[in-house]
Amino acid sequence: MSIKTIIEPFRIKSVEPIRWTTRAQREALLQAAHYNLFLLPADDVLIDLLTDSGTGAMSTHQWAAIMEGDESYAGSRSFDRFRRSVQDICGYKHVIPTHQGRAAERILFNVACKKGDCVPNNTHFDTTRANVEFVGAEAVDLLIPEGRQPALQYPFKGNMDIAALEALIERVGRERIPLVMLTVTNNSGGGQPVSMENARQVSAVCKRHGIPLYFDACRFAENAWFIKLREPGYADRSPKAIAQEMFALGDGCTMSAKKDGMANIGGFLCTNDDLLAQQEKDLLILTEGYPTYGGLAGRDLEAIAVGLQEALEEDYLRYRIASTAYLGQHIAAAGVPIVQPPGGHAVYIDARAFLPHIPPHQFPGVALAAELYLEGGVRSVEIGTLMFAAAAQMDLVRLAIPRRVYTQSHIDYLVEVILEVWKRRENLRGLKLTHEAPFLRHFTAHLEPIL
Ligand code: F0G
Repeated sequence: MSIKTIIEPFRIKSVEPIRWTTRAQREALLQAAHYNLFLLPADDVLIDLLTDSGTGAMSTHQWAAIMEGDESYAGSRSFDRFRRSVQDICGYKHVIPTHQGRAAERILFNVACKKGDCVPNNTHFDTTRANVEFVGAEAVDLLIPEGRQPALQYPFKGNMDIAALEALIERVGRERIPLVMLTVTNNSGGGQPVSMENARQVSAVCKRHGIPLYFDACRFAENAWFIKLREPGYADRSPKAIAQEMFALGDGCTMSAKKDGMANIGGFLCTNDDLLAQQEKDLLILTEGYPTYGGLAGRDLEAIAVGLQEALEEDYLRYRIASTAYLGQHIAAAGVPIVQPPGGHAVYIDARAFLPHIPPHQFPGVALAAELYLEGGVRSVEIGTLMFAAAAQMDLVRLAIPRRVYTQSHIDYLVEVILEVWKRRENLRGLKLTHEAPFLRHFTAHLEPIL
């Protein structure tokens, strides 16, 4: 075909108005939110890139499936459809629904992990790290060195450092490592994919030591698309076949269906281990719900069953990854330092390079995110020193793109806003904390500008 423009592979049937505010209003709103964009009312945000989680638009097929929801407490047919869809892709024996990803994490780490244990991951997401640490275990990030250099071009910057994994097992001993995790794509490290080759190597190390391998599978479809585009031998495979091949290398997964499940809520936990599954279901009943709904309505299970399959459609993935790359390439071309190449669900601005005059302890990412809001009503999120404190290896501002929500003109507007802030970056100031919670402090922290 000679037409090169990649278009949104859908037309719009229902619209949701968004609202402009004035700069003076945004100044007051930002102050009232203590410079923490989590504390802003969403109505006062024009373009909301806080997260791609649960913020996507559902398809006509999902809405239709919702009407088929079976709300029976036990044995609902919606659960059967959900389980079939999950197993079709993941292939694991036990499928345990949860209300979102972190509930799956909490149950997994409570059952599989104890104080003094050690969990390796390419990079733990914040809730994953917090859930590991909450049971007294240590969360260890073993990203390849390439993944820690924002400007470096490398096709699979989410890969795990195999030598570091071997060394860790050697050092702490197999008994202290209840499982190894691979996060696909690597959200905290820039939305970067993990190659099949790397997953195969991690799996081989795990098998050799008898350690189960779990995937944090939130963005498994985007990861599969990157493998198709970038890894030799996969160009002619379908995203679904690639995803199936990757899941087959592991023993289970945790999943937030709010991402590549294309749903507004939901998640699941899978395992091949019968004993573990029983313990997990017991804990599920205590806090989430009966194992055929796990805190979700039957209609949610239906939406996820359809959404998981839609996330693997080639037209969708082509548009999805192209639109994120479009944003990244346009701001990078003007000099804005971003994590290269652009990720699947988000573009990450390197705030340390954008604002070299603001040291990490004065939260350059928070300063930049606040300014993007002031400039254009855009909400983004800091992934850096506020989120991870001393564990932060970078200070990034993530522009996460909700699925099937914004069009190209929204993206063009974003480019303009970011480039305006880039022009006067030298005027931005750092911030200091005035209030913080004992864990996951970024959600509720209060800050103020340093004068
Ligand atoms: N793992 C990863 C890699 C994630 O990105 C998230 C959520 C979770 C686990 C937890 O899932 O929110 O359903 O409980 N990430 C969202 C984000 C919140 O904005 O990146 P959850």
